[in-house]
Amino acid sequence: MLSLQLKSPIIFIPLNFKTLNPPKIKCCKSEVQTERGHTFDTGGTFFRHESATGRDLGVLAAAVYKKDHNALRVLDAMCGCGIRSLRYLAEADADFVLANDANPDYGELISANLGKAGVGNERWEVKHLDANRLLTERYLERDYFDLIDVDSFGSDSSFLRSAMCSVKLDGLLYLTCTDGYSSGGHRPQHTLAAYGAYVKPMPYANEIGLRMLIGGALREASVLGYHVVPLFSCYSYHGPVFRAMLQLRRGKFPFKRHYGFISYCTQCGNSQSISWDKLGQMRCTCDDIPGSLVVSGPLWTGPLHKTSFLTEMVNLAEKWGWIGNGTGKRMETLLKVMIDESDPLLPFGYIKLDEVSRRAKMNSSRLDTILNALHKEGYAASKSHIATNAIKTNCSMVDCVRLAKGLREAADEMMHSCIEA
Ligand SMILES: C[S@@+](CC[C@H](N)C(=O)[O-])C[C@H]1O[C@@H](n2cnc3c(N)ncnc32)[C@H](O)[C@@H]1O
Repeated sequence: MLSLQLKSPIIFIPLNFKTLNPPKIKCCKSEVQTERGHTFDTGGTFFRHESATGRDLGVLAAAVYKKDHNALRVLDAMCGCGIRSLRYLAEADADFVLANDANPDYGELISANLGKAGVGNERWEVKHLDANRLLTERYLERDYFDLIDVDSFGSDSSFLRSAMCSVKLDGLLYLTCTDGYSSGGHRPQHTLAAYGAYVKPMPYANEIGLRMLIGGALREASVLGYHVVPLFSCYSYHGPVFRAMLQLRRGKFPFKRHYGFISYCTQCGNSQSISWDKLGQMRCTCDDIPGSLVVSGPLWTGPLHKTSFLTEMVNLAEKWGWIGNGTGKRMETLLKVMIDESDPLLPFGYIKLDEVSRRAKMNSSRLDTILNALHKEGYAASKSHIATNAIKTNCSMVDCVRLAKGLREAADEMMHSCIEA
């Protein structure tokens, strides 16, 4: 019998749709969609076509994991219409997928969609439990998964602990946050509660959103004696959506490394990372005026991606014909920029060229020109997958302004000599 216990904001629905007789439910309005060649029905579920890139990245990572481990059991904790589960089965060749959504009205739809994966129905199961309850149940049964995908709303971090308990060691956690208001620094008390980070408004807020999510997961993992390694992180402006694919590893993280505070000086525009033992001595290297330093943290300050894992994802995307041969330009560009960003020499954050222009009091040169000049001067520098007119670099804002002025003056001189000639 279906029993529904409402315990705001969580719905507990102890129903295994596949093994119990399905209740008579009202049918969702049919809405047929196609993604990577799969035709499926989204009905009245929450479905965003724009999240296809996030699903593509998840499937690529799952397939790389399966190739490396020769096993892939997936728990899709908030599956909506089940499109991710369908793709994990059909494309990543998952051995088993447990597709869960708290809403029992989606049951028939999810089952019908998974039926199109072209695999035997012993390889998937549909459940309608609160994600935390399901994850905890699997942990208590010692039924661990290789990949747990939690496609949650807002900054709900309540499932972090239960997801970590039910993923295998070296397994993958695909996490989501859609709370751009909080990562923008407008609710520091809220981010402190959700991810243990006091976040203030910073010029690279959308990268802070990823670092807040990874840092929160790292803190949670350390409670259990584990740590997490980001394999890739991805920001999408629709939503906005912050996603991170993390690998759970044994052993606590040395917190001095890559987990600390970040400061931005409104006076000179420089950013610094501040280690825990320097908390009482925060100052900018410029003669900062009182109150010019904005500090957020603790956050993940290390690389957003792991180069070797992303390279495997790119190779697979090429093999599958998703990129290369003039196809999949957007995906190709995204993966290439992510690989460039994974350079361990690159610090957190990015510098917007508009801010460089404003501080230099002149029009900025083109992004590629500035990147070339930074590389020539021996700095690490790359584009950012998050902001189009911005660079990631270990060159300070002050030196970026100096360099931009030099480039502009050289360009102006060249133009004048051309006109005179
Ligand atoms: C963002 S949507 C999922 C979209 C889907 N993963 C996709 O890629 O199209 C989130 C889903 O989580 C479900 N949900 C919300 N709270 C939940 C909870 N506590 N446990 C399980 N499912 C939940 C909602 O019914 C909704 O379908």
